[in-house]
Amino acid sequence: MNEYDSERMAEILEPHNYSSVNEPDQADLIILNTCHIREKAAEKIYSELGRLKKINNKNDKNPKIAVAGCVGQAEGQEIINRSPIVDLVFGPLTYHQLPEMLESIETDKGFPRKKLVNIEIPDIDKFDQLKGSRKSLRSISSLLSVQEGCDKFCSFCVVPYTRGVEISRPASQITKEAIELIENGAKEIILLGQNVNAWFGKGLDESDWTFARLIRELSKLEIERIRYITSHPRDMTDELMRSHKDIEKLQPYLHLPVQSGSDKVLKEMNRGYTFSDYMKIIDKTREYRPDIAVSGDFIVGFPGETDKDFQDTLKIVKEVKYAHAYSFKYSSRPGTPASLMENHIEEHVKTERLKILQDLIKEHTRGFNKSFVGKEIDVLIDKPGNGENRLSGRSAYLQSVHMDGNTSMIGEIIRAKVTKSRDNSLECVIL
Ligand code: 5AD
Ligand code: SF4
Repeated sequence: MNEYDSERMAEILEPHNYSSVNEPDQADLIILNTCHIREKAAEKIYSELGRLKKINNKNDKNPKIAVAGCVGQAEGQEIINRSPIVDLVFGPLTYHQLPEMLESIETDKGFPRKKLVNIEIPDIDKFDQLKGSRKSLRSISSLLSVQEGCDKFCSFCVVPYTRGVEISRPASQITKEAIELIENGAKEIILLGQNVNAWFGKGLDESDWTFARLIRELSKLEIERIRYITSHPRDMTDELMRSHKDIEKLQPYLHLPVQSGSDKVLKEMNRGYTFSDYMKIIDKTREYRPDIAVSGDFIVGFPGETDKDFQDTLKIVKEVKYAHAYSFKYSSRPGTPASLMENHIEEHVKTERLKILQDLIKEHTRGFNKSFVGKEIDVLIDKPGNGENRLSGRSAYLQSVHMDGNTSMIGEIIRAKVTKSRDNSLECVIL
């Protein structure tokens, strides 16, 4: 989502004579787009600002420095107090005002500037205000935000506080943006949202559309592949599961975070489902699309997590046989209900559990990749690979795929035979 927001910020600034540069010391404006989801991600920003301060001391450009994203939203003025080189702080809901904000920090005398913190939650539709035509930097595989914010309030998570309430963009806005992305070379569109499958909105025919309907209508455009991330199990409808069978362009990949395999922990997390509810969704989706690659997110060391709870998490990994998964140590976030819970888990226990979980996930990913050796697959080639005449792309199952070939093939979907599997990628020959 931050990648999408960064692209949009660049697009808004383009008509104001900004273009991107390769190094921070060449820039007139530096925006750090930040993440507040875990403490480690949030702290990164201060080490980055320290690095920028050193660059600035040797640089007479005096670039404007802005902190955007969820750390901006959550910490506001505190960022300027901690790091006075920052001129401007804003959150994910106000970046459409970027040109006006930059103008308002200018003073007649130039440097130093006025400081501005803009973290009010506006009651207008940000997406409606976003100017500039979409030309995603990733072009071939383009991101398209369809839904933002979250009303689920998982007890560990800051998103409902930083990204605000759940909103769905109307289908007309989404379709217009999809067409712009296709005109800019998109072969694949990745629909984005914190709870993307909670999307619900006005359709092109003014009737109410479900997320599955939105995907079906978008699949009628000149696009090869459609994906969506990230889904919540509670919003996984039968219609959406069935779409993986019915809509050919919808790729066989489902990112469905479970977070924990323990019913007790899931309840404390306020996730709203049990181990068995989650397994029913996976089984049902596999009935419709047996080859679907399932991916997930896990948190280890949630307050009160016992060894038995952790064993249940390992159990769900074994049952689902994830093709891929992200896993994290629980990180206590200010203002969340979980941060006030008792029985926080010691760091060394979290570290041990994370290692065990990641080793198990790695084993499954390796097995999943290995099962492709000798098979033929379709690959969307999206960039040059490492080295001369090397190409890199993605399988339908979102595996990284590498092969020899000519860069003129970038943007094409080719048929290839898998010759070798690695922990996180496949090696192929083009057929
Ligand atoms: N600590 C650790 N991981 C977290 N996530 C969200 N909040 C936290 C937290 N406080 C993880 C969840 C989510 C992913 C985006 O980040 O697994 O699915
Ligand atoms: Fe955070 Fe996702 Fe839970 Fe929303 S559903 S509170 S974004 S973890």
